Amino acid sequence: MNYVDAVTPILDCTADQVAIRLRNITNKFGDFIIHKDLDLDVLRGETIGFVGGSGAGKSVLLRTIIGLNRPFAGKVDVLGIDVWGENEAEQEKLASKWGVMFQDGALFSSLTVLENVMVPLKEHTNLSPKLMGEIAALKVLMAGLPKEAGDKLPSELSGGMRKRAALARALALDPDILFLDEPTAGLDPITAGRFDDLINDLKQALGLTVFIITHDLDTLRDACDRVAALANQRVSAIGPLDYVREQATGWLEEYFSGPRGRAALG
Ligand SMILES: Nc1ncnc2c1ncn2[C@@H]1O[C@H](COP(=O)(O)OP(=O)(O)OP(=O)(O)O)[C@@H](O)[C@H]1O
Ligand SMILES: [Mg+2]
Repeated sequence: MNYVDAVTPILDCTADQVAIRLRNITNKFGDFIIHKDLDLDVLRGETIGFVGGSGAGKSVLLRTIIGLNRPFAGKVDVLGIDVWGENEAEQEKLASKWGVMFQDGALFSSLTVLENVMVPLKEHTNLSPKLMGEIAALKVLMAGLPKEAGDKLPSELSGGMRKRAALARALALDPDILFLDEPTAGLDPITAGRFDDLINDLKQALGLTVFIITHDLDTLRDACDRVAALANQRVSAIGPLDYVREQATGWLEEYFSGPRGRAALG
């Protein structure tokens, strides 16, 4: 089986081939059900694009995967570790194996870019301040920012540069998995395209698994191995982009076949 062609949310493969394994996830706020019995396998080394209508529950699912939003029911395994299980020591290790770029960037506004990138290093390592500074400077460059940007406050950067700063912070701990929530939202198409190229380059160079939440059809086409669609509280379709387009109904069909979809996908 070629897993990158796989069109089911549950894969017939061993635990060590899977980076993220979700089973029977239910999330709800009061009586408002966001996810119901949601299953998903993300393979190690793949880039998965996660798409769905606004409010469908993409960011909530991300928070459930990274230990910030306890699911009402279900199991989350990341790199073989039960995120919501009892073993806190293992979970602590896990937190240094992923990097997250949140939807709003979530940079600390009173810290410079370099200081922002050093936050996870301070939290999860015992490195000397000098080494932390050197690593942070390297990550700033890896994220495609000029060296000088390291000394700026987030408010002194353009929106695109802020996204790169958030990416630099997500890369701080040399993660195995990179989570990106709407990384290209609000960027002009050229800058967004460069961001997609950067993600591809980083994935190749570092062997990352990448989980991208996006509404950007170009990102789905250019940066993702598989696409997972969230609809009706679960992964309603998954597979190569063309397959998911063919399966699309409702919001997803409009999304793919609307003028923007046609322009991006032909
Ligand atoms: N802490 C919370 N308490 C109550 N409701 C919440 C909470 N967090 C999210 N929600 C609700 O859950 C639903 C899903 O939110 P989520 O942020 O996951 O949407 P999304 O798919 O990421 O949308 P977008 O594409 O606009 O970012 C929304 O209706 C939101 O209002
Ligand atoms: Mg969101």
